[in-house]
Amino acid sequence: MQVEVIRDPKPSKIDHLFVVIAEVEDGRSEMPLPPSLEAVIRKALTGSAFSGRIDESITILSEEPKKLTLLGAGKEKELTIRGARAAAFSIGKIARRSRDRRIAVVFPYSLPDLGEAETTRLMTDLLSHADYKYDQYVTADKKEKRLPIDCAYIAPAALDSRASRKAQTEARAISGGVRTVRDLGNGPGNLVTPTWIATKAREVAEESGIKCTVFGRKEIERLKMGGLLAVNRGSAEEPKFIVLEYAPKKARRHVALVGKGITFDSGGISIKPAEKMEEMKFDMCGAAAVIGTLQAAAQLELPVRITGVIPSTDNLPSGSAYKPGDIITMMSGKTVEIVNTDAEGRMILGDALHYASELKPDHLIDFATLTGACVVALGNECSGLFSNDDELAQKLITAGERVGERLWRLPAWDEYKESIRSEWADMKNSGGRWGGAITAALFLKEFVNCPSWAHIDIAGTAYTDHDTGRDGKGATGVGVRATIEFLQSLS
Ligand code: BES
Ligand code: MN
Ligand code: ZN
Repeated sequence: MQVEVIRDPKPSKIDHLFVVIAEVEDGRSEMPLPPSLEAVIRKALTGSAFSGRIDESITILSEEPKKLTLLGAGKEKELTIRGARAAAFSIGKIARRSRDRRIAVVFPYSLPDLGEAETTRLMTDLLSHADYKYDQYVTADKKEKRLPIDCAYIAPAALDSRASRKAQTEARAISGGVRTVRDLGNGPGNLVTPTWIATKAREVAEESGIKCTVFGRKEIERLKMGGLLAVNRGSAEEPKFIVLEYAPKKARRHVALVGKGITFDSGGISIKPAEKMEEMKFDMCGAAAVIGTLQAAAQLELPVRITGVIPSTDNLPSGSAYKPGDIITMMSGKTVEIVNTDAEGRMILGDALHYASELKPDHLIDFATLTGACVVALGNECSGLFSNDDELAQKLITAGERVGERLWRLPAWDEYKESIRSEWADMKNSGGRWGGAITAALFLKEFVNCPSWAHIDIAGTAYTDHDTGRDGKGATGVGVRATIEFLQSLS
């Protein structure tokens, strides 16, 4: 929904007012409420037995506004971004269900470690996604009528109109980037091909004044990107290698972002089981995160030079597909013995990381739905982080904490390298099951020539297979918010 940050709401213009209220131990605390709504909110609070417990909600019919819903946020001292995201998501759902056209939201708290402006920015961004649904392919008669909802986020009194406007502008840039990621991620594999990703990247680039270069098969061959070409051999689609460049004049730092763009991962000759294979359309969410982040960064006019690098193909079996036992020479010149064609992400990323390293960025960060092992280790609540630079790792973790995209660091110690040792080539493309997320990171490291590199494994966070109460089913848009926060901390 479209969210506007406003300071002085007119109750008559609101169909449905949502107030998020936390639980307090010793009676109701006097949280600051917007003057024009204070009376009606206080009346609702005293008139109901509402306590603010998490998951609690009461809807009251009144005059102006016509409906008022109180939503519990749990203990005030234990407010989390996770809880705030759940509240935003519930608001979207309730508003959709009750066919509201104009809603307003009051969230009279600041989130932990965030000030009022940052809380407002994050809530506005989260609310814009609260009623998100990818329903482009649900045909007319089955599709429920989804009328647009206008949402007013009531700014805290401490925020002046300039600060409110800024929070709104920033939230729109970020939620726009997140939307790009979700739409690309949710798009089916027959639509979202490498060519489609390239077209989308070009579109975003044109809108945002970014430079976009797309290499097709010829150029990829000329660059000797053996990893990308090997994975593409089973495919009927042309591989693409996409480079996005955002280079503002005032930039002092250069950050390269690399994203895995496998538009469908069947596993190839080492084919995956049929169950849930359809989820492998999400295997390009790293690529999407790079495009969405560049889109948001350019719109925010961040004073950082950013280069996005995306290798893209699908991974399918065929008579010409690469196969176990093959030895592939990568762009860097290193050779890889293929033992599992399903370890394809690292093959295309090896070339992309080598390419990006040659640009000599200050920081190099890659995003990839790389391993099931990472999901086994960490589940769906955080992404796996690997880095050769403690300071970069810490900055990314902190940035993620501030926007609700958790990262957990795993080791990339050389001790684990033994598992990808090969008799026939410089390395094998898979180290087997044990420590699979780590050995994948170590494989990538072989192609990195940058003292400040981070690899973010988003296999568990890029999409969900069910409605979580914080996100609907499908692509989550992970990567954009944390990376933007990190880039802002650099400038
Ligand atoms: N795209 C998958 C990883 C994945 C798994 C993403 C589950 C999202 C959810 C990746 O290409 C893959 O197949 N990895 C293999 C590596 C193995 C063959 C070494 C895996 O994790 O099983
Ligand atoms: Mn795979
Ligand atoms: Zn994959």
